[in-house]
Amino acid sequence: MHMYKGHARAYTNIALIKYWGKADQQLILPMNNSLSLTLDAFYTETSVTFSSTFSEDQFYLDNHLQDRETTVKVSRFLDLIREKAQSQLFAKVDSQNFVPTAAGLASSASGLAALAGAASAALGLPLEEKELSRLARRGSGSACRSIYGGFAEWEKGDSDDSSYAVPIPSNGFEEELSMIFVVVNDQQKDVSSRDGMQRTVETSAFYDGWLATVPQDLAKARTAIANKDFQSLGEVTEASALKMHGTTLAAVPPFTYWSAESMRAMALVRQFRNEGLACYFTLDAGPNVKILVEKKNESTVLSKLQEHFSADQLIAAHAGPGIKIMTKEVEA
Ligand code: ADP
Ligand code: DP6
Repeated sequence: MHMYKGHARAYTNIALIKYWGKADQQLILPMNNSLSLTLDAFYTETSVTFSSTFSEDQFYLDNHLQDRETTVKVSRFLDLIREKAQSQLFAKVDSQNFVPTAAGLASSASGLAALAGAASAALGLPLEEKELSRLARRGSGSACRSIYGGFAEWEKGDSDDSSYAVPIPSNGFEEELSMIFVVVNDQQKDVSSRDGMQRTVETSAFYDGWLATVPQDLAKARTAIANKDFQSLGEVTEASALKMHGTTLAAVPPFTYWSAESMRAMALVRQFRNEGLACYFTLDAGPNVKILVEKKNESTVLSKLQEHFSADQLIAAHAGPGIKIMTKEVEA
């Protein structure tokens, strides 16, 4: 009997400059570079065991055995790893999401990064960050950024080899930042990011406008990080999210991830700013609003938000670490 085990923990990341659209669906090559902050509050822990005693892949998420459809997605990803490692062993994947699944809180980023790390460790594949980033990308694009702590930029590249994330040196700027999650809905969303971005690329009259402005937004974000310029980083973060969400309104059929509660949270952020409190919002493929604020103002923003949202809807996150690969055990 052969048994190979690996275990990894990966943290979610939230894009400040969004990834929205693929140039290659199969390889998950994006249309544009994106830039993110990895966070400490939400993460995934995954154990993968490959064994000659298994006759199929099994996927447990939060201790529940998943149905065929969900397991097939994991199996396809494991196939890439099996191919690289020249293994034909089936696997048992046991994953815990310390983040609501598929609610626009980036469970796919931490989930697929942890899976890439745990499965690679189990089968003895290279664990260099660049290789892990490339591999995680094949599971979910945003996952390639969760290999790193702090700020990361996903270089879109033009091939499987050249598309991966790299860390952005920041001189510790991320330690000054806080991101407050306003969880207006933690249920599964109707339109996944994968389907939403594809529909947008294929049908939205606004998509070209989005793509055209990404390079200048990225340049502004990089400069803001280098200069520790919070206002500039906040402004471009909010602008990138608004433009990304704008594209969905012109898709055919049109859709939006925003709910009335999302709009309420966004209006509050604008109001706080008018009152002199620097904070900026971003949203992903779901209605939840994430507010970027300097740590020194976190408690003020939180207490203002508490007048409108219950305490369990508000979660403050800070910069998180890169992926941690914890074990590799082999039993023969
Ligand atoms: P989210 O906003 O949470 O990232 P997505 O719709 O983009 O939502 O992705 C959710 C999908 O990510 C899930 O349906 C599942 O296929 C995958 N996923 C989430 N968590 C895990 C995990 N721990 N291990 C493997 N796959 C996961
Ligand atoms: C809006 O990485 O979940 O959160 O590559 O199809 O798995 P797939 O999509 P995913 O999309 C994330 C989209 C986003 C923006 C971002 O994280 O950059």
